[in-house]
Amino acid sequence: MLGVVVLISGSGSNLRALLDATNNPLYPVRVLAVGADQACSGLEHAELFGIPTFVISPENFGSREAWAETLLETVNRFRPDLTVLAGFMKILPHGFVRALSPKLINTHPSLLPLFPGAHGVRDALAAGATETGVTIHIVDEGVDTGPKLAQAKLAILPDETEHELHERIKVIERQLLVSVVKDIAEHRIKLDTSK
Ligand code: GAR
Repeated sequence: MLGVVVLISGSGSNLRALLDATNNPLYPVRVLAVGADQACSGLEHAELFGIPTFVISPENFGSREAWAETLLETVNRFRPDLTVLAGFMKILPHGFVRALSPKLINTHPSLLPLFPGAHGVRDALAAGATETGVTIHIVDEGVDTGPKLAQAKLAILPDETEHELHERIKVIERQLLVSVVKDIAEHRIKLDTSK
């Protein structure tokens, strides 16, 4: 059984997909805790599943480093085999990344290396891309630059809004995340930064 801590910032639909997957006793993953950098609706999914939650906001700390140190201590208290950034919208300091990577993965709504950063969907539309998708990757010290574990593509429809496109991306993203975390648990995906 792979023990996972999930970090979120928003609605937590990817988290919810993972939690729903764990309802199947054959799914080899257990969500140990869910953390966020701010109060957000996604934490309600964890509460519904009786899973511990924590909120650690950077505003309550004198520096990003101090914030991330407390975040790291809190994550480590649950002794996860894997930490998943699922819509976690803060950039983590290098110390946090070094402590957990490569057992630290992120899901991002674009075909990396295209459109990294906080606005992957908006940036793909603004660039006039005809296709985009989702990338799940190991987190390294750059922004969305770590080794890729899996990608899925979809065509951008004419006149699609950012919201519409992001919702369609999230449908394939949730499936991909559930499958990648399973593959990590069953050692079909090896977390190796040399890839
Ligand atoms: C997801 O699409 C995730 O890829 C994106 O935020 C969304 C969260 O949705 N993350 C980033 O853009 C990180 N750069 P959710 O809260 O419904 O899971």
